[in-house]
Amino acid sequence: MKQLIFIGPPGAGKGTQAQRLCSKLSVPQVSTGDMLRAARKAGTELGRKADEFMSAGLLVPDEVVIGLVRERIAQPDAAAGFVLDGFPRTVAQAESLESTLASASKQIDDVVLLEVPDELIVERITGRRVGETSGRIFHLKYDPPPSPDRGEAGERLLQRADDREDVVRKRLAEYAALTAPLVAWYANKGLLRRVDGVGALDDVTASLFRAIGVN
Ligand code: AP5
Repeated sequence: MKQLIFIGPPGAGKGTQAQRLCSKLSVPQVSTGDMLRAARKAGTELGRKADEFMSAGLLVPDEVVIGLVRERIAQPDAAAGFVLDGFPRTVAQAESLESTLASASKQIDDVVLLEVPDELIVERITGRRVGETSGRIFHLKYDPPPSPDRGEAGERLLQRADDREDVVRKRLAEYAALTAPLVAWYANKGLLRRVDGVGALDDVTASLFRAIGVN
């Protein structure tokens, strides 16, 4: 059983690597960003509330995301493990996760910190496209989507509303202020695994698998 967390700045490659790891381990990817975007698309009250924060590049209040994750990881498909992508993002979220897991006699095995310098982030994020049906993450330059021009079957590609440069800068500031303190918090617990997120996608995947002992 593997219960893992991915942390790292916006655009570090958390979603990309989480998708690869989840398919390798056959466990669900629990992405709070994807869950909040789904709620926004569905037009729920929670989605409308979250949108005010997401559009401004701010973190959604702790109580909203904590409730979502608590429900999600109690689902049967998460019983054999899960990969948390984008959660926790504050010390309060980490404390709440710890007590939720403890009450189910579970614990986190590894916390992966994907390290990418700020100067690479804007290019990564502005070039990102997401497959509308598959949810697969692409990059126009570094991981190009299938192209009908090359005879490849494609799907409609979406660009996230918060992937504008001004919003990305705000997201980076939120990360530095509220999420970066989790690095020391998890290092003190002996759970932190640092992975260099710079380099070809397959090389990053290989470093990640090595860091957490996956063959
Ligand atoms: P969320 O969706 O979690 O966004 P994020 O953390 O800002 O991370 P991203 O999804 O932007 O990037 P990523 O690290 O997954 O990178 P990716 O793999 O896509 O959160 C969005 C918003 O929701 C937040 O701002 C907040 O408002 C709210 N929210 C979510 N969770 C919350 C929480 N817990 N608490 C409060 N609020 C919350 O890669 C990026 C691009 O780079 C892609 O195009 C990819 O193809 C490319 N790429 C990846 N790896 C490489 C590589 N090695 N080389 C070149 N390109 C690469």
